[in-house]
Amino acid sequence: MRAVSVPLIVVGNEKGGSGKTTVAIHLAAGLMSAGQRVGAIDLDHRQQSLTRFFQNRVQWAERQKRTYPLPKLLTLAPSDGGEAARFAEAAAELAAETDAIVVDCPGADTMQGRIAHANASIIVTPLNESFVDFDLLASVDPETFEAKTPSVYAEFVWESRKRHMIEKRKTIDWLVVRNRMSSIQTKNQRRVSGALTKLSQRIGFRLAPGLSERVIYRELFPKGLTVTDLIEGKSRLTMPQVAARAEVRGLIASLRLPQLSSVAAAE
Ligand SMILES: Nc1ncnc2c1ncn2[C@@H]1O[C@H](COP(=O)(O)OP(=O)(O)O)[C@@H](O)[C@H]1O
Ligand SMILES: [Mg+2]
Repeated sequence: MRAVSVPLIVVGNEKGGSGKTTVAIHLAAGLMSAGQRVGAIDLDHRQQSLTRFFQNRVQWAERQKRTYPLPKLLTLAPSDGGEAARFAEAAAELAAETDAIVVDCPGADTMQGRIAHANASIIVTPLNESFVDFDLLASVDPETFEAKTPSVYAEFVWESRKRHMIEKRKTIDWLVVRNRMSSIQTKNQRRVSGALTKLSQRIGFRLAPGLSERVIYRELFPKGLTVTDLIEGKSRLTMPQVAARAEVRGLIASLRLPQLSSVAAAE
């Protein structure tokens, strides 16, 4: 597959419930609120939560008689073969009309997920601060909590990066995002955090500023909105909403998209 002409941001980690769709939604909506034209590919054909979110957005906009920016969204169904061609076609179609593409992967190893990872410019991996999630990246020593050998998902990203390098002579940037962080860090979360920092140097990912556990990240789903869509009108944003918006903007800045460098520098 030829390199996609706009950043292809693939949100994945092969684990259900870690926040892939939540992160994909906030990346897509946040990028649009920063003035970007966004393409989105929903590869979770079973749940289709990303698709549903944007359907909700269309309906809510109609009800409210106002407009919210929409991505150009494609929902890909698994097929018997021809997956690589289908993905390439979808990515090229979106790239022609957008500035960045966000891909939401299912929580399992699928052929389309593999193709998306191998063609990513950035892989974004949300992870709860738990050793259960950490185990997807590496096993840890039960006493010292030092990371030992890389495990299934890290190996998979490694392979994707190698293929990408051979085929496209380019690296894939890998960003790990701590999700559902609690305001009070437990000893265990500090250990996970410490192990992640060390592992990031060893297996080559960047640690993004994370997203906290916040109701605002899920309560707007039925309206198809995110905290970056809320405007400061009559009712002022609450402190948690302001904090959440800053987290989402921080996450977007950590993508280091070239087209947003002037925005990041200005903020
Ligand atoms: N930072 C967060 N704060 C609050 N709830 C969250 C957060 N991240 C995810 N959730 C909730 O956790 C559940 C799983 O998240 P989801 O994004 O669907 O995960 P995945 O796509 O990896 O399966 C959903 O109910 C979602 O609303
Ligand atoms: Mg999901």
